[in-house]
Amino acid sequence: MANVKFLSGENIPLEMHKVRMVQKVNLLPVEERLKRMYDAGFNTFLLNNREIFMDMLTDSGVNAMSQEQYAAMMRADDSYAGSETYYRLEAVLQDIFGMKYFLPAHQGRACENIIAQTLVKPGQVTLMNYHFTTTKAHITLNGGSVEEIISDEGFKIQSDAPFKGDIDIDRLKASITKHGKDKIAFVRIEAGTNLIGGQPVSMDNLREVSQICRKEGITLVYDASLLGDNLYFIKKRDPAYKDTDIKTITREIASLTDVFYFSARKLGSARGGGILTSDEEIFMKMRELIPLYEGFLTYGGMSVREMEALAVGLEETMDIDVVSQTPIMVEALCNELLANGVPVVTPPGGLGCHVDAMHFCSHIPQSQYPAGALAASLYIASGVRCMERGTLSEQRNADGTERLAEMELARIAFPRRVFTLSQVKYTADRLNWLYKNREIIGGLEFVEEPKVLRFFFGRLKPIGNWPELLAKKFRQDFGDSL
Ligand code: F0G
Repeated sequence: MANVKFLSGENIPLEMHKVRMVQKVNLLPVEERLKRMYDAGFNTFLLNNREIFMDMLTDSGVNAMSQEQYAAMMRADDSYAGSETYYRLEAVLQDIFGMKYFLPAHQGRACENIIAQTLVKPGQVTLMNYHFTTTKAHITLNGGSVEEIISDEGFKIQSDAPFKGDIDIDRLKASITKHGKDKIAFVRIEAGTNLIGGQPVSMDNLREVSQICRKEGITLVYDASLLGDNLYFIKKRDPAYKDTDIKTITREIASLTDVFYFSARKLGSARGGGILTSDEEIFMKMRELIPLYEGFLTYGGMSVREMEALAVGLEETMDIDVVSQTPIMVEALCNELLANGVPVVTPPGGLGCHVDAMHFCSHIPQSQYPAGALAASLYIASGVRCMERGTLSEQRNADGTERLAEMELARIAFPRRVFTLSQVKYTADRLNWLYKNREIIGGLEFVEEPKVLRFFFGRLKPIGNWPELLAKKFRQDFGDSL
């Protein structure tokens, strides 16, 4: 976002930081990578980090921290109750978000547990732009259900819509009429909508949803885990906010919501989570659950060192040079891929580059997990680890049949400020090669299929000997290259 123009006119994502601590990574030869993929049951979650060149599985808990964050960790006040660290973090949160009460939790899904237990009654519906895996699990665990009311644009892989995470206002109104407000536990907006490609929500949409919720007396919950990316997109894509600073945008967002929560593994580049609200009644109900599930109220399951890092990380998030780094790198990778015809979700979102496996591997039936096969192929071709976000990540229907996902995505996530442009170019290069050789890639089938969240631990095998053919073709094309 820094206004630096290049003589060539190229749009280069310039890093606005320097790297002063490094971690050595290994790039194994393709034959080794092939072997490791078999050992990992063709599930990228089961690879060991020492076998991976670039870990682009997630942006969760793996972001680069600043020297100020590390320095702050040294002054953490280690006390069970009443820690100074807690009060420092609370003050930062109140200052940035302008909300009255803060409850700490050990990570984002822990906040979701507290929120769902407090707000969801059996038989109630929650309306949201789109679910996240853990969000939905906690709502259904409490007897509620999820209804997604995202705009049609959200499901289009390729689109020019700047805010594909927006809620469809007509659907929202229709759902409220259909269910009646008492049957609605809450409305939830997820910033930087994760499962549809890290797509942002506009301020106009949030404002409209907020007005409707306030008029109807329905609680509006905001998942701010991916707020950093969303802030950048509001500034970049909404002309009304072109000259507004990040902190003012943040304050406005928070002021429109009733309950605001986040995974601090993403927002603030530390590890932990938190819930904010100005509603005393909701706060008092949620507060009771914190010591039960998280820890005492002044740490909530977080290490005090992480809390110090979080306080500094959140302040640093109010800087456009910080929040722009992931989206501009995602855009650079998407553009390199698009130039070679590789289908990706557009416009480029936050979080990562999302490759459309349904088209990339159009010859693989959805029941043979094309996105999973693509994720495994990318590792074999490059040592880059990404994540399947498609049918494999779904749960089977009650009758045991597959629930085919709306989208089959291979998500190449960007840990914030971790990878350099040359590494991004390497990833693009190997994906472009893979696209040229996509016919070699075949499907997968389960060997061991866990009942719950099968994508974490499930083991699969290739249908046919396509991984060997892929590795052989790599050797032919790249010679003795790693
Ligand atoms: N909400 C969103 C939008 C998320 O992306 C995540 C986590 C959570 C809630 C849960 O937070 O992991 O701290 O418990 N997303 C990670 C990912 C896991 O890889 O996308 P958590």
